Amino acid sequence: MTTRSFVIGCATAFTFAAVATPSKADMASGDVMANTCYSCHGTNGVSAGAMPTISGKSQKFIAKNMKDFRSDKRKGTVMNRIAKGFTEAEIDALSKIFGK
Ligand code: HEC
Repeated sequence: MTTRSFVIGCATAFTFAAVATPSKADMASGDVMANTCYSCHGTNGVSAGAMPTISGKSQKFIAKNMKDFRSDKRKGTVMNRIAKGFTEAEIDALSKIFGK
């Protein structure tokens, strides 16, 4: 199974489970990117399950961990592959959306 099909499968499963969509209909690129995180980390980054909640952690923490996953400095299960799909600028934008 490829990473892509895993992520899409995961996203699809969650889409059916969660009726709630972000109330902001603003489809700016940051929001679109953030949507890809909701499937695992919960709507708006607040996890209801085993995945870590990312919302409300500091922007610095989120950016640092994403960059560490990206460079394989921090080893995870799926986040290394996910983080490699984003540029540094996109990671900074994501950390502003989720971080406080
Ligand atoms: C396929 C499921 C999945 C998706 C999609 C996903 N994550 Fe993760 N994330 C995880 C898992 C699982 C972990 C725990 C580390 C690991 O095993 O890779 C994690 C860990 C993290 C952490 C570290 C949290 C901590 O407390 O240490 C951050 C930050 C993070 N993810 C951000 C994101 C962002 C931002 C996105 C969207 C671009 C995203 N994740 C998308 C599954 C996912």
